[in-house]
Amino acid sequence: MGDKKIQETTEAQIAVHWQEEEYYYPSTKFIGQANLTDPEVFDRFSLDNFPQCYVEFAEMLTWYKYWDEVLDTSDAPCWKWFKGGKLNASYNCIDRHLKDNKNKTAIHFVPELEEERVDHITYQELYVRVNEFAALLRDFAGLKRGDRVTIHMPMSAELPITMLACARLGVIHSVVFGGFSASACADRIIDSNSRVLISMDAYYRSGNLLNHKVNADEAVELAAKEGQVVDKVLVWQRYPGKYSSETPMVDGRDYFVNEVVKDYYGSRIEPEQMLSEDPLFLMYTSGTTGKPKGCQHSTGGYLSYVTAMSKYIQDIHPEDVYWCMADIGWITGHSFIVYGPLALCASTVIYEGVPTYPDAGRSWRIAQELDVNIFHTAPTAIRALRKIGPDEPAKYEYHFKHMTTVGEPIEPEVWKWYESAVGKGEAIIVDTWWQTETGGFLCSTVPGIKPMKPGSAGPGVPGIHPIILDDNGDEVTQPGIAGNICIQNPWPGCFQTIWGDRDRFVDTYFGRYCKNPESKDWRDWPYLAGDAATKSADGYYRILGRIDDVINVSGHRLGTKEIESASLVVEEVAEAAVVPVAHDIKGKEPDLYVSLKPGYEASDEIAQKISDAICEQIGKIAKPRKVWLVPDMPKTRSGKIMRRVLGAISNKGDVGNVMTLANPEVVETIRTMVQG
Ligand code: WTA
Repeated sequence: MGDKKIQETTEAQIAVHWQEEEYYYPSTKFIGQANLTDPEVFDRFSLDNFPQCYVEFAEMLTWYKYWDEVLDTSDAPCWKWFKGGKLNASYNCIDRHLKDNKNKTAIHFVPELEEERVDHITYQELYVRVNEFAALLRDFAGLKRGDRVTIHMPMSAELPITMLACARLGVIHSVVFGGFSASACADRIIDSNSRVLISMDAYYRSGNLLNHKVNADEAVELAAKEGQVVDKVLVWQRYPGKYSSETPMVDGRDYFVNEVVKDYYGSRIEPEQMLSEDPLFLMYTSGTTGKPKGCQHSTGGYLSYVTAMSKYIQDIHPEDVYWCMADIGWITGHSFIVYGPLALCASTVIYEGVPTYPDAGRSWRIAQELDVNIFHTAPTAIRALRKIGPDEPAKYEYHFKHMTTVGEPIEPEVWKWYESAVGKGEAIIVDTWWQTETGGFLCSTVPGIKPMKPGSAGPGVPGIHPIILDDNGDEVTQPGIAGNICIQNPWPGCFQTIWGDRDRFVDTYFGRYCKNPESKDWRDWPYLAGDAATKSADGYYRILGRIDDVINVSGHRLGTKEIESASLVVEEVAEAAVVPVAHDIKGKEPDLYVSLKPGYEASDEIAQKISDAICEQIGKIAKPRKVWLVPDMPKTRSGKIMRRVLGAISNKGDVGNVMTLANPEVVETIRTMVQG
């Protein structure tokens, strides 16, 4: 008894109460066509075969020169993969497909307005446009190998064209999510020392043509105040030949790409032969504190990894139409809209707007029209689609063979709706757990080999060897007891460092568990993901959220996700978020925020029903102080619920700056409701 008590109250451990879900098995039809069905892959990628096993991934690419060494650990923990090898990412995503597939669609660009036609760009067309723009970047903007350039663009075909043109020249791109503010853009310009900013005049969002160019002006001005001069702003036009923004162009600084590129029509640029370990791009991740971290991703390791993940986990075949509904401004879009699918010569869909514009059926109409058969999205979008149009998917003639969920833990209830309604019971689902830092997937089932389990990401993907550690660095082996999930081995997709801040990189991701900072042996450097997780008896990992998202009630640690999951079992509930509130006696108490599906009115009965459901599924210990039925959750632009804001409201604290949220107005409504 005494022992058990200690286990339940150490820092990293959380008692997990939820039930194991039943397996769902992939259909024989799916297995019959899958890229990876040989269970021996897990032996091939065992730690005994590390790092040699990863040659299988590198061989999916075309190299100018093979590597001298698979893994160089001499600068631990800044690993170098396929050291000495030479390749070019743009060549691998375009040129090498031309011989057999030049007339195949590379990109389907879907404008938000339904009356506008879908643009189908072939690999040949992509080749031409990337070359011409690369020539412009080199000869007009003066960019060369190793320079950084900031790209602040919306979802458009021009965004991957811009990225691939940079990659062709060996210029390191730093894409800033289009919905981010000018000041977020300026921070990234400054940190990466970009002297060129690439922008677009306007784009559609919920039916409105937004002025985007205005952000470029403001960002350049803010950066200048900090001493970072941007001397050229290259502006793509949403409607080529027509300027769609009211913000004037600045003479001698701003240029329309559509005009300048005419001087480069017909140009062809020989791809730079990049070293495998040369950086391909920076992707900034905000984290909860401190300034954004510029995650630096490599050329050879990253591209090998995302190509292999796209093939084995996304099951992409050249004939598939693949739609990842993320934004290219996030890592998911980099890896699984642009680099992975294009390296495999797939057709990738880029949708400009919101999935529910003009109505809840839009996503499914796009799927039907383009005959999409692989679909990739996040729990937040799934919850939104379930909330406003639970019966919509059935109205459309589309058939997915494969679906992905990524970005947050998915509640089993939501997973089941995704499987039956969106997937029509025909599609397999992969729940892919990974991070901006990791380049590609860490945990997921291999769809043609392992069964699915709602709410569980699954085992490590081939080559990834996770381990759950407690605060003393001891392995947690007991199912149902959670700890800090770490990865024991390096892998090619992992970022190389934080741009300009190696100490922070080593500290944040390795500081906690590395016992010997001088060691050059990778075994001494487990990677700390910063998530809490539990491992079931079958080796499947269930991610509980960030280590900090844990509530300690009377010395009993509860994962916020399990309480949220329990409330989603109640019919009327669309979304739920739990935050800790200070309590004199218990230490902390959970406060629960819930939004209801349309058609339901908030009432005391519903609140009571939710509270009862939690007590029933988890226990009285998890009973919320109060169930707040709110009109909507405060969310980030990428759709993650801002628990920090709700926590501040519950604790009568300062909500801080909420202007970067997707829906800042809802904060005041909730504050009034809670604080009176
Ligand atoms: C969370 C997104 C549960 C996790 C690719 C991680 C997930 C953070 C999942 C990284 C998943 C991502 N199940 N949690 N399938 N995928 N997360 O950097 O907390 O935007 O650490 O990368 O999202 O978010 P990021």
